[in-house]
Amino acid sequence: MTQARFDEAAASWDEKPRRRQLAAAIVTAMRRVLPLSREMTALEIGCGTGLVTCDLAPLLKRIVATDTSAGMLAVLAEKTAALGLENVEPRRHDLIGDGDLPEGTFDLIYSAMTLHHIEDTRALLAACGRHLKPGAPLALADLDKEDGSFHDDMTGVAHCGFDQGRLAELVVASGFQAPRFVTAYSITKEDAAGRSSDFPVFLMYTIRS
Ligand SMILES: C[S@@+](CC[C@H](N)C(=O)[O-])C[C@H]1O[C@@H](n2cnc3c(N)ncnc32)[C@H](O)[C@@H]1O
Repeated sequence: MTQARFDEAAASWDEKPRRRQLAAAIVTAMRRVLPLSREMTALEIGCGTGLVTCDLAPLLKRIVATDTSAGMLAVLAEKTAALGLENVEPRRHDLIGDGDLPEGTFDLIYSAMTLHHIEDTRALLAACGRHLKPGAPLALADLDKEDGSFHDDMTGVAHCGFDQGRLAELVVASGFQAPRFVTAYSITKEDAAGRSSDFPVFLMYTIRS
């Protein structure tokens, strides 16, 4: 269900300026708080069309850009070819269910606006811990807890954002250091009646113990 929704959305995903602005703000926040370098091999969970990954690629050695939507990955592959980004490897993969990525090898795992689409946050954090090298950073950007009005279509939405305190507890219980949070961006959306609301997006970052 989630895959079909994102497969359909893939071709026009990048057309919304809000999505491009959000991704750029997340990259800015990541550059500010993480020690990114050309020595690092990174894994993105839920890369979509690569709005974040295409900006990070010149700063990293290699990125395994994973998503469960073949449509999103096809758009990413076209973009990396057009941009000459040879260090990005688009890959259809679910970090919880699929066991075919090497564990303990990544220098960085990140995701942008994907955590709220994955039901089992605890299992995802555990999988991140297994795939990171000890001492390597994890950076997750997502919505602050919201009232359910962010998505017009709730298909595939598992969480209405996240309470930072509860997420921090889960992160520590999953074998990471106490995380820090910065607000990377605030999305302003109007409902059908023209009422506008703000939806802050955090970047949570931590280190695998
Ligand atoms: C809201 S989009 C965000 C895409 C991209 N990160 C961006 O910022 O534009 C969420 C993405 O997560 C992907 N996704 C959903 N569940 C997933 C899972 N279990 N593993 C990997 N990707 C998943 C979807 O296919 C979709 O591309």
